[in-house]
Amino acid sequence: MSEKVYPVPQDWAARALIDEAAYRDMYDRSIKDPEGFWAEQGKRLDWIKPYTKVKNVSFAPGKVSIKWFEDGTLNLSVNCIDRHLATRGDQVAFIWEGDDPKDDAKITYRQLHTEVCRMANVLKAQGVKKGDRVTIYMPMIPEATYAMLACARIGAVHSVVFGGFSPDSLAGRIEDCGSTCLITADEGLRAGKKVPLKANADAALAKSPLVTSVIVVKRTGAAVSMTEGRDLWYHEAVKNVSDNCPPEEMSAEDPLFILYTSGSTGKPKGVLHTTGGYLVYVSMTFQYVFDYQDAEIFWCTADVGWVTGHSYVVYGPLACGATSLLFEGVPNYPSVSRVWEVIDKHGVSIFYTAPTALRALMQAGDEPVKKTSRKSLRLLGSVGEPINPEAWEWYHRVVGEDRCPIVDTWWQTETGGILIAPFPGATALKPGSATRPFFGVQPKIVDAEGEVLEGACEGNLILTDSWPGQMRTVYGDHQRFMETYFSTYPNAYFTGDGCRRDDDGYYWITGRVDDVINVSGHRMGTAEVESSLVAHSKVSEAAVVGYPHSIKGQGIYAYVTLMAGEEPSEELRKELVQWVRKDIGPIASPDLIQFAPSLPKTRSGKIMRRILRKIAEDEYGSLGDTSTLSDPGVVDDLIANRQNKR
Ligand code: WT7
Repeated sequence: MSEKVYPVPQDWAARALIDEAAYRDMYDRSIKDPEGFWAEQGKRLDWIKPYTKVKNVSFAPGKVSIKWFEDGTLNLSVNCIDRHLATRGDQVAFIWEGDDPKDDAKITYRQLHTEVCRMANVLKAQGVKKGDRVTIYMPMIPEATYAMLACARIGAVHSVVFGGFSPDSLAGRIEDCGSTCLITADEGLRAGKKVPLKANADAALAKSPLVTSVIVVKRTGAAVSMTEGRDLWYHEAVKNVSDNCPPEEMSAEDPLFILYTSGSTGKPKGVLHTTGGYLVYVSMTFQYVFDYQDAEIFWCTADVGWVTGHSYVVYGPLACGATSLLFEGVPNYPSVSRVWEVIDKHGVSIFYTAPTALRALMQAGDEPVKKTSRKSLRLLGSVGEPINPEAWEWYHRVVGEDRCPIVDTWWQTETGGILIAPFPGATALKPGSATRPFFGVQPKIVDAEGEVLEGACEGNLILTDSWPGQMRTVYGDHQRFMETYFSTYPNAYFTGDGCRRDDDGYYWITGRVDDVINVSGHRMGTAEVESSLVAHSKVSEAAVVGYPHSIKGQGIYAYVTLMAGEEPSEELRKELVQWVRKDIGPIASPDLIQFAPSLPKTRSGKIMRRILRKIAEDEYGSLGDTSTLSDPGVVDDLIANRQNKR
């Protein structure tokens, strides 16, 4: 771990919204007087009925309850659109950059208002009402953002499912939240390849007949099958609706969206976020962490299928009246210079991406970067996984020409917005460290016994108080919410991450300490991949762990025991990879499969993952105590047949 320090550049300290004195002052106040602090910050939104209560939170065992601004009412789409119309109606809200560099569009706030109202009216015409769940399975096109904002306008709860998920994954998510309406597109387009969204949706709906209305946006114009009475083309439906849709008055604690995310056990959980606190939090973090100033172009490369897309492509930027770039494509298509070309083409000043993308681009060398100007860039950001100092240094030196600070932002689907990150005008940077907590955030590091450690230390990361953007529950399963996040360390939220704090009080996230792995910045539960593998008729048992991967951060390593009589083969290996890919989605494809005659188990039959992890990581020197294994010989066979990293 590098301990090199990059001081705040002088021009940044002078012009930034938050300098060191402001950070210290505001942080202190946010901890000493959270009520007063957040009462003031809540005013960044337009409320229909102002709140009189600010914070009402309990992390007590069995009684976890989180409410912010609970008696206030507002409409989120009004805060993201309508209230900007008087001052910035003709300002661009979204710049859309298509997969093909020739395709782009600009949508002003005024146009966005019209488009969102139209989409909202189409939903209403389909019978969608306040509180109904709407699933959105879309490519990165402007209509995806209209769909999210239209739901918010009429008080429906959206559940965006990433377009890379399989029909089964989509069906499971539709069923879990009971959506009756699905918004999708004929096809998506990524790196010139078509993604059969409507066909996938049809396959999903064959399994969950709950959905009575499917709205299909035309993207590629492909011929798709339309089910009479259930499916309708958006471009036809929209002809018959008005351009105006009065916003629904929502309580601050009314649900805004559900987003499914993987945990260490079971099916993905529906993380539920509500309206008021979430928008206050994402708008504030957006403004201060990215030091967003009027008229700048902000580009977050995340898909709206992930929380980063919700908070920092759509809601945070729009709440601040910003211009946000929405990118349909991938970083290396049609060439490895694409990202930098897009930055030049649209004059992007703030660029926010994932370490996995940087590592891939870094592999292509400096030339594809250097042949572009990038003069518009002012600030760089990183999110999704720990950034290795080597990638950080490259990002800083080559991409940012030593002139742009990097904000390494640590947060989670559950946290709604950024919790630990530098303020570019206040915080000296250390490559690989997310640095210091945002306002109101109280990180603590605990040991295995739950003892809170002081000073420089390493352990598990917990948060001992709430912030307005925190998730409120697991949709339909509050018990699971309490068990997952509040039972390991009583009276605290457990993040699932390991963390080190250094002498300067900087936080260094070391990665997940549970059975969650982070593949290219995407979260995957090892249990999910295992249950997919064992569903294959030739597989008797499977254990999945992560291993260090030079581009993806972590790769998926699967140990597979076959049914009696089945023979390992290259063909079967490929078949199993395809199986998981089809079952969950391409992001869950195992990188390496090792056929193992048996897995290391304790005498009580529990698989010893610690050992499997060490072997996959190529660290058998440190296998630790293997004496509790029922058959220690198993380990030698596993080591002898270890699969090599790609
Ligand atoms: C997990 C959350 C944050 C939105 C995208 C991912 C890891 C995230 C960082 C970072 C080190 C990070 C953590 C976290 N993570 N950002 N800057 N440094 N690790 O959201 O899918 O909910 O994943 O991603 O392990 O727990 P997510």
